[in-house]
Amino acid sequence: MADMGTPEHVGIIMDGNGRWAKRRLLPRLAGHRAGMKRMLALLEHIYGCGVKCVTVFALSAENLSRPKDELDGLFALFREYFSTQTERLSEKGIRLRVIGDRGLIPADIVSLIKEGEEKTAKGERATLAIAIGYGGRQDIVAACNKAVRAGREVTLKSFAETLSTGGMPALDLLIRTGDEKRLSNFLLFEAAYAELIFSTKMFPDYTDGDFDEALKEYAARERRFGALHPADRT
Ligand code: FPP
Repeated sequence: MADMGTPEHVGIIMDGNGRWAKRRLLPRLAGHRAGMKRMLALLEHIYGCGVKCVTVFALSAENLSRPKDELDGLFALFREYFSTQTERLSEKGIRLRVIGDRGLIPADIVSLIKEGEEKTAKGERATLAIAIGYGGRQDIVAACNKAVRAGREVTLKSFAETLSTGGMPALDLLIRTGDEKRLSNFLLFEAAYAELIFSTKMFPDYTDGDFDEALKEYAARERRFGALHPADRT
C-alpha cells in the first residue's frame, strides 16, 4: 500500500488539448495526439510514485456532440491506443477498465476494449480506468435503475459498488488541467471527498514535475472528511 501521503486513486481531467494546438496554429487533433503521448508517459510516472489506481477522462458522453472530423480522429487515437498498449499494460501488471456508455462508441473499439480488459484482467499491481462516452450523472442514474430493477434500497456502500467504478478505491485526488475549475460531469459521486487540484497548464504541457507538485500539495492538505478542524477540537 502507498504511504499515507500518497493518494491511492487519482483522477485526471486532461483538458486543454485543443487550445494547446490552436496556440501553435495546429489542427485540434494534433493537440489530442500530443495529449495522448503525454498521458502515456505521465501514467508511467504516476504508477512509479506508488499510486494504485488512475482514472482518466478521455471522452465525455457530452463530447460526442463534437464535429465528426474531431470524433473520427479521437476514435482513431483510441484504436491506436488499445491496439498497441494493452500488451504493455498486461506485462506491467496493470489492469485496464473502460468506463462509460459503450453504446456511444464504434463497435470495433468496443471489441478492442473487451480484448484489452480480458488480456489485463489478472493485473494486480495497479488499475487504469479510461472513461470514454462517460458521464457521472448518467452513471448515477444507471446505478439507480439497477437498484430499482432489483427492487432493493441502496446504502452508500452498495451504491458505490454499483457505479462503473465499483471495486476501485475511493477517489483521493482529482487533477484538472486546462485552466478550468469544474468537474464537467466526471466522477461526481466518487469525488465527494477527493482533494481537487487545478492546473493552468494545457494538458500536453503538464509535466511529471507538475504531478510531483500536486502530490506535495495533496500530502500537505489535511483531509477531514467532515470532521472538526483540529483547532476546534477540545
Ligand atoms: C480535452 O481537450 C480532451 C479531449 C476531449 C480528448 C482527450 C482524449 C485523447 C487525447 C485520446 C486518448 C487518450 C487516452 C488516454 C487513450 P479539449 O479538446 O476539450 O481542449 P480545449 O478545451 O482546449 O478545446
